[in-house]
Amino acid sequence: MKTGENKVAWGRRPIIRLLRTYSSRYIGWYVAGGLFLWLTNYLAVSIPLQIGHAIDALRAGTPLGRYVVTIGLMGAAVIVVRTLSRILIFNPGRYQEYLIRRDVFAKLMRLQPAFYAGQTRGDVVSRASNDVTWVRTLVGFGGLQVLNVTMAVTLAGWKMVSLSPWLTAAALVPILIGVGAVQFGIRRVFVLGRRSQEQLGEISEHVLGTLQGMAAIQGFVAERAFVNRFEERNQAWLKTGIQLALIRAVALPLLVLSGGVAMFMLLAVGGPMAIEGTITVGEMVAFAALLTVLLPTLRSMGWLLSVLARGRASLERIFELLDAPETEIAASPGVKVEAGRGPALSIRDLTFSYPDEPDRQVLRGVSVDLPAGSMVGLFGRTGSGKSTLLSVVARLYDPPRGTVFVDGVDVLDLDLLAWRRRLAVVPQRPFLFSDTISSNVALERDADNERIEQAVAAAALGPDIEALQSGLDTVVGERGIMLSGGQRQRVALARGLFRQGDLLILDDVLSAVDHATESGLVDSLEVLGGTDGGPTVLIASHRLSALRRTDLVLVLDRGSLIDVGRHDELIERPGIYRETWLAQSAGAGPAEEVAS
Ligand SMILES: Nc1ncnc2c1ncn2[C@@H]1O[C@H](COP(=O)(O)OP(=O)(O)O)[C@@H](O)[C@H]1O
Ligand SMILES: [Mg+2]
Repeated sequence: MKTGENKVAWGRRPIIRLLRTYSSRYIGWYVAGGLFLWLTNYLAVSIPLQIGHAIDALRAGTPLGRYVVTIGLMGAAVIVVRTLSRILIFNPGRYQEYLIRRDVFAKLMRLQPAFYAGQTRGDVVSRASNDVTWVRTLVGFGGLQVLNVTMAVTLAGWKMVSLSPWLTAAALVPILIGVGAVQFGIRRVFVLGRRSQEQLGEISEHVLGTLQGMAAIQGFVAERAFVNRFEERNQAWLKTGIQLALIRAVALPLLVLSGGVAMFMLLAVGGPMAIEGTITVGEMVAFAALLTVLLPTLRSMGWLLSVLARGRASLERIFELLDAPETEIAASPGVKVEAGRGPALSIRDLTFSYPDEPDRQVLRGVSVDLPAGSMVGLFGRTGSGKSTLLSVVARLYDPPRGTVFVDGVDVLDLDLLAWRRRLAVVPQRPFLFSDTISSNVALERDADNERIEQAVAAAALGPDIEALQSGLDTVVGERGIMLSGGQRQRVALARGLFRQGDLLILDDVLSAVDHATESGLVDSLEVLGGTDGGPTVLIASHRLSALRRTDLVLVLDRGSLIDVGRHDELIERPGIYRETWLAQSAGAGPAEEVAS
């Protein structure tokens, strides 16, 4: 998703798209806000004219009272009208920020592992937060200023022209030159703005990674390396920020200067005209006052141009994310197969490579039939492809067409969401949210407590939870840091059991569990399976004690299915299964492992 500087698109398209998809629904707000803004500007330029009239009246010796009252009333009205215009235009900015954030989050939910494999979290976080905030600035303050500048320039310009076209031309030329010069720098602001947001993403990524690995960093006293790397990124970001500030610092005085030159031109050209009597002194003063109204507008213009450029850069990053291709699976509604019972799985000559490494075959020519409702073990050394086979069946990754069938239907033709709803996947590295144990088990609000307790008991977590002070309501800390590896695995297992899916996938979930607990777990899994219409269960493990009571074991070696059979059959045949069995049943069994 990274776009190099050379490819940066400096188009109006992102802005037009923003206006179409988001801003258009607030058209009423903008029209009303624009109206009040127009009034504000109208009053702001009418006041100088009144002052001009008053001065001419003063010279003619006519009473001034009328003008004083009018000017006072107009001044008061400006305050009210100006406030209203800001409210009416800023609020849609906030609403649009809210809508975009909502859409970005919804999109993140639809994107699949294949997308996330190619992203840093920091960059995604930065798009979803900083970039969206810039868009709010763009459509709120930016929108207001665009209207404001346009109106002030048109109104003041029109009044000025009606006072004296010559004077207007003389005053406007330097201003136009100033704006034109600044426009040059703005392209650079766009490029730098984009870079700045990308660098912010790298900083977020570094902070996220550091926080997650804090225990490892501190344990290995590696703080310095992480601080240094952070320092590099932070400095890079600072540099971009300073360059941005520099452009603004040059642009602003340039615009203010052009205003000063305009004032000078007014006096140089207008002074003689007033002396000759082509215009009155009052008109001359009114003209000067109009220019003074324009000056703050010019000052805000430098800022506005840079907000537009940065907002556009952020907008582009957001639309890139919103446009990230969704795997066709998520997009196409497919066949719905009967739910509520364990499916039969059939794997036909499955060869699979991960999308980012298309040349390395992680599974090779795997073919096997798994009956509905069976309990199937997957055995193989680390890296043999167990997790991959399970992800492909769960369709976290897409297998090639015609290789994986669920009740006779190609898994690619299934309705993805309907299929996922039937799955209960407990991954090898379970993720726990920093929430209570019961929320981690149920992943939904208002879940039935009794069902949570059943799942927890079936996952052999009961005694562990009794030992915790708040029981099921214990908050487990970031990623479940409060729990041991085995406890985390069993919370994840309880989550899988709570789902009551038709296909239960357990990826090495018993690896960090001691043998006594493991035995109890296998018992409760057996109760689940075996019943008619019960779920199909797939258990990956390199511990054979967990596979002993399965109906069938698949033996994988470097991506190939080298043997299939019941445990008692496999231990009779020479091969890695038998070797492992002999090794594991000799001695005191394998050492306790910690889930990786
Ligand atoms: N997301 C991934 N992208 C690329 N390669 C992967 C990915 N996940 C696993 N692999 C590779 O696939 C092979 C099989 O891994 P895996 O299925 O996790 O084996 P197992 O679960 O049996 O330990 C390994 O060589 C691993 O490096
Ligand atoms: Mg694995």
